Amino acid sequence: MAVNPTEAFELLFTREQIVERIKQIAEQVDQDFHGSRLVVVGVLKGAFLFAADLIRELTTETEIDFIWLSSYGTERFSAGEIRVQKDLELPIRGRDVLVVEDIVDTGLSLKFLKQHLMLREPARLAFAGLVDKKAARMTEVSIDYVGFEVAQGFLVGYGMDDAGLYRGLPEIYRLPPIADK
Ligand code: PRP
Repeated sequence: MAVNPTEAFELLFTREQIVERIKQIAEQVDQDFHGSRLVVVGVLKGAFLFAADLIRELTTETEIDFIWLSSYGTERFSAGEIRVQKDLELPIRGRDVLVVEDIVDTGLSLKFLKQHLMLREPARLAFAGLVDKKAARMTEVSIDYVGFEVAQGFLVGYGMDDAGLYRGLPEIYRLPPIADK
């Protein structure tokens, strides 16, 4: 019989909760960017599902682009140097831009993105994070739209992975703690 790996995981947010929260975020974004033609930037790989679901809830006109960052560190903790593996294709000078992250952890990726994208002089740069893990912050960052706050733990599902696995789970789970590798 096939083993269900999620049996050992702690379910934090169901698909229904995620869908509902994204609808609420989309309403806020629609209010804040009314009349705009918004560039939504998904941060690969983790944010691909959140970005896809969010733009389908928005009534604001959107163009979608992606940026792919990589950082070096241990498998479950990356606080090293951040590099751009794939940059935006759309020009964002003078545009309204919403960066979409699956999770904000240390805050280093978001801080990097802010600096990286502000150099291009967008009209407005806002950030959405589906999960905010404030307790893990190493640098102060401000997130305009937060889905859920989580105190601790390593999360998987809905775009988030453990060594490449579990991104396709429709729910968000917390893994049981392990000794750091
Ligand atoms: C995750 C997530 C964010 C970043 C947040 O990406 O998608 O981009 O970590 O962490 P931070 O606040 O500590 O910088 P990850 O490096 O795991 O790559 P992935 O999106 O490809 O899974």
